[in-house]
Amino acid sequence: MYMYNSWYVAAWSRDIDRSLSAHTLLGQSILLYRKSNGEVAALENRCAHRHVPLSAGFISGDDVECAYHGLRYNSDGICTRVPSQERVPGKARVRAYPIVERYGWVWIWMGAVEEADASKVPDFSRLSDKGFASTGGTKLVRANYELITDNLMDLSHVGFVHRETIGTTEMGEKGVIKVDRSEQGVRVTRWVIDVPAPPTHAKTGLVPTDKGVDRWQIIDFEPPCYVNIYVGSVETGTGAPQGHRQGGVGLWIMNAMTPIDEHTTHYFWGVGRDFNVDSEQATAFIHDEISRTFDEDLAILELQQKAIVQFNHPASVDILADAGGVQSRRLLRGLIENEHATESDSRIQQAELAN
Ligand code: FES
Ligand SMILES: [Fe+2]
Repeated sequence: MYMYNSWYVAAWSRDIDRSLSAHTLLGQSILLYRKSNGEVAALENRCAHRHVPLSAGFISGDDVECAYHGLRYNSDGICTRVPSQERVPGKARVRAYPIVERYGWVWIWMGAVEEADASKVPDFSRLSDKGFASTGGTKLVRANYELITDNLMDLSHVGFVHRETIGTTEMGEKGVIKVDRSEQGVRVTRWVIDVPAPPTHAKTGLVPTDKGVDRWQIIDFEPPCYVNIYVGSVETGTGAPQGHRQGGVGLWIMNAMTPIDEHTTHYFWGVGRDFNVDSEQATAFIHDEISRTFDEDLAILELQQKAIVQFNHPASVDILADAGGVQSRRLLRGLIENEHATESDSRIQQAELAN
C-alpha cells in the first residue's frame, strides 16, 4: 500500500525533453514529455482504445499519437482525434497527473487531483540554492523504498557498511542518538565525539587526521519517502555540539525514494556543500564519494530484500538504533491507513447518495 496523496519525484528535469519516456511509479506506468512551452506533461501510459503504451507512439505538437491506430491525446489526457472516424468518443481519455518542477526535479502528484497543492512539495532547496554547490544522480534499487528509509534513519551502519568511505568503526559503537517528532515528520540527531575522521572527510583536507573530530548526523524524515541529512565533522573540542561548525566538513544529503513497485525503487539523491563552492573538482570528488557510499548501501539493501522475500516477510527484531526508523514507519503507516479510510468513507457516502 502506498500513500497516494503526496508529491513524488518522477525524474530529474534535465532528463525530460520533447521525446516520450515511460516511468513506472507506485506500480503505474506514466508517460512524461515536455511540451513546446517547456512544461512537463504526465499521462497514464496506456491508450484508451486498446491499451498500447502511449510511450510507443509519437509526439505531434503538444499531443501524443498512439502507435497502433493513431488516436491522439492532448496533455490533459483527452482524445482529440480518431483518424478512422469523425466523432471522438467521450470515454476516450486517459488520466493526466499534476506536475511541478522544482529544485531540478520533476514532481508528480499521485493522488486525488483536487488535493494537489504545489506548496506541499518537500523542501529540497539546497539542490538549487546558489549558495551551495550541489550534485546528484539516480539509482535503481532492487529493494522496497522503506528499506532505504530505514537505512538512512539509522546511520549506525556507517561504521560497518562504509569503511572505505564515510565510516569508521567508532561510528557504529559510540554514537549518542536522540529521536524527536519534528514539524514534518521524525528527526534523529546523532553525535559522535572525538573519533578519527572518516576517509571521505579526511580527503577534503578540512579536518585533522592526527587528532579526533566531532561528527554529527541530523536526519529528517518526511513522509512518505523523503530523508534530508545534514552531516559534518570538525576538530574535537572546537565547539561543534554547541553550534560552532565552521571550518570543517558540512554536507547536506538529500534523498527521495520513489517506489517503482513493492520491491524496486527509483532512488533520487543529491548532495550539497557550503565549502569550496566554486570548485568543480570538489563537486566531482563529492559526487563520486557519495555515489560510491550509496552503492555500498545498495549491495546490502538488495541482499536484505532478497532474504525478506525468500523467508516470506519474517518478523524483525528492533534494536535501540532503530528508534528513528521505527517512528518513521509508524508515522507513514498511520497516514496510509487514514488515506485509505477516508477513501472508503467517501465511497460509502457516494454509494449511499446513489441509493
Ligand atoms: S490502441 Fe491506441 S489507437 Fe488503438
Ligand atoms: Fe549508508
